[in-house]
Amino acid sequence: EKGGYKHFMLKEIFEQPRAVRDTIAGRLREEAGDVYLEDLSLNDEQLNGVERICIIACGTSWHAALVGKFLIEEHCRVPVDVDIASEFRYRNPVINNKTLVMLISQSGETADTLAAMRESRRRGATCIAICNVVDSSIAREADGVVYTHAGPEIGVASTKAFVTQLVALYLFTIRLGRARQIMDVERGRKMIAALVRVPALMEETLKLNEQVEKVARNYLHARDFLYLGRGMNYPIALEGALKLKEISYIHAEGYPAGEMKHGPIALIDENMPVVVLVPEGDNYEKVFSNMEEVIARGGRVIAVCSAGDEEVKKKVEVALEVACEDDDDVNPIILSIPMQLLAYHVAVLKGTDVDQPRNLAKSVTVE
Ligand code: M6R
Repeated sequence: EKGGYKHFMLKEIFEQPRAVRDTIAGRLREEAGDVYLEDLSLNDEQLNGVERICIIACGTSWHAALVGKFLIEEHCRVPVDVDIASEFRYRNPVINNKTLVMLISQSGETADTLAAMRESRRRGATCIAICNVVDSSIAREADGVVYTHAGPEIGVASTKAFVTQLVALYLFTIRLGRARQIMDVERGRKMIAALVRVPALMEETLKLNEQVEKVARNYLHARDFLYLGRGMNYPIALEGALKLKEISYIHAEGYPAGEMKHGPIALIDENMPVVVLVPEGDNYEKVFSNMEEVIARGGRVIAVCSAGDEEVKKKVEVALEVACEDDDDVNPIILSIPMQLLAYHVAVLKGTDVDQPRNLAKSVTVE
């Protein structure tokens, strides 16, 4: 049932273009520059009444939430807070009936996320969920759902569920922006067009597999890794670090690249590989100079950059060239792939149990 792949994780990584197509399928209204979310259950008037959005999740789903904040604030101009479920529920959060609480959960059974939803509802918030498992507890109890159609995810390390969560957030952003009329038809159409191109770009990016395997061989003895990104790619750096920790048991940290100089730069030496997400786009120059700071201190950089970026290539030890979009908003989806492949190959070479890493469960139903 692994379809010829050595592990479920690798199968699921390669399934991602299909998973993204399925999550988009039937939901686009290209002419209107809008999307149709069949189970969202909130009309334009309700979406207009929202004053604030809180996105709550755990682990990888929390990383998706961080990308969601960027998308929603940029395109819908609604303030968004992102919380880790186990933190949220033990605070005294400011939530009322004008707050839209969004829970993100692959399994729909994560105890902390479920409890955060129940607490939010008690305080009068409307709750919607982004879930992969139909009829899961979170999906059932929420007022509305945007299902990701990733299909069953077996590998404990989330891959296709994550990228489809990003797609669901992107779709939700279009819906919210159009409902609130802050996004015009043209912008909606452009966003849809960019999304439609994503699966093919992912297929292109999956061709990095062999190169990444070779790269992994040169770095698997490192004790620590640093992952750097800025803006929407900062959560992708966090996700890359989490993937590596989970399945290879190598310590890794994700950091916003601009925050390096406030401390972590002291860690840089020739023993610590630094993965830098430096695609062309909004933050390019800034990240590029952060990368130069790392190199100047003897750091070994694995850059993930846009295809054909000679400037980056001549500076770094390894460049993983990715087929990015001009549109920054979809790049986190594509850049997730080299993150997943790097963690996967390091883990395989180290001989760990990739699909069922030690101490971890697929869904965490205890607090
Ligand atoms: O099912 P959920 O999305 O609620 O799960 C949340 C986390 O437990 C999950 O993302 C976890 O971090 C994964 N092992 C990540 O690969």
